[in-house]
Amino acid sequence: MPRKKSTIVKKGIAKKNIVNTNIKKRRQALQAVKGMRDILPVEMKMWDFIREVIDDTLTPFSYNRIETPILEKTELFERSTGEETDIVQKEMFSFKTKGGEYVTMRPEGTPGIVRAYVENGMSNLIQPVKLYYVGTMYRYEKPQAGRYRQFHQLNLEAIGNSHPVLDAEIIYLFHRILNKLGLGDIEVQINSIGCKECRKEYRSTLVDYFTPKKRQLCEDCKKRLKSNPFRILDCKKEKCINIASGVPPIVDYLCEECGIHFKRVLEYLDEAEIVYNLNTTLMRGLDYYTKTIFEIWPAGDKQSAQSALGGGGRYDNLVKMLGGKETTAVGGALGMERIIEKLKERGIEPKNKKSPDVLLIQLGELAKKKSLKIFENLIESGIYVREALHRDSIKSQLRYADKLGVKFSLILGQKEAQEDMILVRNMYDGVQELVRLDRIVDEIKKRIKSYSKK
Ligand code: HAM
Repeated sequence: MPRKKSTIVKKGIAKKNIVNTNIKKRRQALQAVKGMRDILPVEMKMWDFIREVIDDTLTPFSYNRIETPILEKTELFERSTGEETDIVQKEMFSFKTKGGEYVTMRPEGTPGIVRAYVENGMSNLIQPVKLYYVGTMYRYEKPQAGRYRQFHQLNLEAIGNSHPVLDAEIIYLFHRILNKLGLGDIEVQINSIGCKECRKEYRSTLVDYFTPKKRQLCEDCKKRLKSNPFRILDCKKEKCINIASGVPPIVDYLCEECGIHFKRVLEYLDEAEIVYNLNTTLMRGLDYYTKTIFEIWPAGDKQSAQSALGGGGRYDNLVKMLGGKETTAVGGALGMERIIEKLKERGIEPKNKKSPDVLLIQLGELAKKKSLKIFENLIESGIYVREALHRDSIKSQLRYADKLGVKFSLILGQKEAQEDMILVRNMYDGVQELVRLDRIVDEIKKRIKSYSKK
């Protein structure tokens, strides 16, 4: 009997311990999901800088912004990215909704864009429809430097025209964006994988080449030999890379039309003075490409293919595959995190935005109360102004004015607030002048104008 009692006591202690651990666990700070990161306010300057460069570069080339949902039907990616690809087989965040629908958090943007193009009747617009977007993508990959489970891409897509100049334009625009950011030190890798017709012949060449070497291939590639031998060329395992290095280049198998198209793309790049490497072993890990494919690698990086800053190519069959009319298209994506990491690595700082012209400083309760309305008045009049309402001391507000780099501080003290006046301080020479509050907008505009002429 006493034994029984002690078990009861033990059970009681065990239960108590579980409860305690649960409480402890609940109090522990939670962390972000593996491979996903916060972008903090201090980093936003860099993101804003890149986005500004992107917008400025793309607008003259008539690329328009588009946003599509992060969640798409799983079938969309199976049908476009490709059932045999690593992305679809291993890397998708997919789930069944409460309504029983199978959905996936987009691992890449192109399928969603093509779906939107077809669904919204964009084929009735003037072609090509040129679109761009910066957004999050999700891939269940092993997180490491430059490889995350949530990451951002800038995507360009030009849908509805087959002209080779568009292939070159996308490469040119990526090159230009990276150059403007200070990352001109890149290698453009380019290849052509032709159309369905060219690939038919090349497929049998691949089968003939790999079959006698089948036993040396990795398990995945053994299966790929039957299902999709092109994917062997994209395998990242060393032994498969070595075997694949002896494959005859696909450019030797291009039909006349694909050959001419590729030659013209290269000519446009030559004219734009973009140095490229004709990389006949280059393959892409997505199934929808036709003709031109390219990647942008950081120059001199040993692991270049794994740390690509971007990639893309033509996808002339995808619109039709997703239920649209026969429509040609080309596009590409740059990885935002990889760009930011390169900028940091090279010590490149974001270019400072223009500083505000004016800081409104206040001292004392009455001045604080009156400041909101004055601040609104200044903003409404188009003056680039900042406030420091949460601060009390003049010293800290003047320090803030210096940090912001404003030209003028407007100082509203207790006395000024009572007399409807305000002090204008020139931050360059320290000269101060009293101005009537109802004249402040005109006076400050006048001073800003003459200040910038100095
Ligand atoms: P992608 O080559 O799979 O192409 O991805 C483009 C870029 O996204 C890569 O070069 C890399 O910079 C970045 N990226 C990819 N995976 C990760 C990751 N796990 N973590 C961080 N960055 C990553 C596509 O996605 C195609 N949809 C591009 C395209 C658009 N083709 C035609 N139009």
